[in-house]
Amino acid sequence: MTQLKDRYPLYLNNEAHFPNADLEVTDKFTGEVAFRVAMATPEIIEAGIAGAVAAAGPMARLPSYQRQAVLQHCVDRFTERSEELAYALCVEAGKPIKDSEGEVTRLIDTFRIAAEESVRITGEVQPLDISARARGYQGMWRRVPIGPCSFISPFNFPLNLAAHKVAPAIAAGCPFVMKPASRTPLGAIIMGEVLAETDLPRGAFSILPAHREGADLFTTDDRLKLLSFTGSPAVGWDLKAKAGRKKVVLELGGNAAVIVDRDADLDDALDRTIFGAFYQSGQSCIGVQRILIHREVYDRFRDMLVAKTKTLVAGDPKDRDTFIGPMISEKEATRLDGWIQDAVAAGATILCGGSRDGAMLEATLLEGVPDDTRLNREEAFGPVAFLIPFDTFDQALDIVNDSKFGLQAGIFTRDLFQVLDAWDRLEVGGVIVNDVPSYRVDNMPYGGVKESGLGREGVRFAIQDMTEIRNLVIRRR
Ligand code: SIN
Repeated sequence: MTQLKDRYPLYLNNEAHFPNADLEVTDKFTGEVAFRVAMATPEIIEAGIAGAVAAAGPMARLPSYQRQAVLQHCVDRFTERSEELAYALCVEAGKPIKDSEGEVTRLIDTFRIAAEESVRITGEVQPLDISARARGYQGMWRRVPIGPCSFISPFNFPLNLAAHKVAPAIAAGCPFVMKPASRTPLGAIIMGEVLAETDLPRGAFSILPAHREGADLFTTDDRLKLLSFTGSPAVGWDLKAKAGRKKVVLELGGNAAVIVDRDADLDDALDRTIFGAFYQSGQSCIGVQRILIHREVYDRFRDMLVAKTKTLVAGDPKDRDTFIGPMISEKEATRLDGWIQDAVAAGATILCGGSRDGAMLEATLLEGVPDDTRLNREEAFGPVAFLIPFDTFDQALDIVNDSKFGLQAGIFTRDLFQVLDAWDRLEVGGVIVNDVPSYRVDNMPYGGVKESGLGREGVRFAIQDMTEIRNLVIRRR
């Protein structure tokens, strides 16, 4: 039986420190304090940034085989500690144990991909003799690390979304300071414990839980060359406005849609749509919020969705049968409950679910949700989705695009030409065919357009952001 410790440190300049045990982290199902974690003060954050600045040179000079060895060490240790990592997630995030195990698998994938990428960060030889004035000139470029990076990671994938920042940084040779989500810091702290077993240069990493109010330096300090934030759109765009000259990568949210066309295999679409809407209680940036169904199959698919949703087991995330666990907090569940009530007052119909007990919100489906409700327009980030009928595929594409967000979209169709139309026309970072928008493999480019973000993660793409091109021009004598 896995046991968590009572107290965990922060990691400052590669070392564990216990300046206090101020951060109480609750078991999100029982609401009881599960463990305490050291909190960084502004002085500690300053020391972490200074350490990262000092480590920039040594990190940049680290040969790629050594960076690869560090990443491979993480792969090995996370594999050995996978049960403990999954349990920690289950407790601190309230994530059902099977989803938690899935996230640990993805964590290992992400570090494995980074280990592979770390030895193939290449450049190009470029002939420059494109006109008489450049005769005899030869160019070549390579990528160099951008320098100290700042990472702010979210509560919903405490391990893997932290990994999507940490692993590419090590692959690229960038030191970093990271602020994990205060409600779920343990995944990142265990990552720090494993990194501390390596011989990365001092200052290569600091993992510093902090309250948002005391954490401005992560955003504003000009010595940091890149800010990579994953979290809510409101916070992300606000941070960008304060980030000064540094490069900013934002992985934000959306109100993702899936299109179920009349030729779809409805049984298959059913399983995937239920998963996409309700896995980890809908707390995913690419969770299905809008279900667009061709009118010819609307009634049938609606009945199938409702019947299946009613069978989902809700309860203790530590129980292997549980599919719906708690939301991250009662406050968040109350917020979304309010959005559902507002939508109903505006004319929407609840098809199933709709009740709340503390942080546990029932898996809820609605139809007839008016356009101008928050449930329709904003990111729900909980176990709620609503159905929209459509008459033509073109109309469905317009509905998907009628959103201020654009992260990923899913389409169930067998028509290749429609797939290509969707790929052309949908204003999103990724189109997923015969699956839900919630699908992600960790080596693919991942990120959004419009208010869903800036830049792409997916290891190789994050490495591009964490490096910059340095050109070399040679004039032949
Ligand atoms: C997210 O919620 O932003 C990420 C989803 C995923 O990695 O599967």
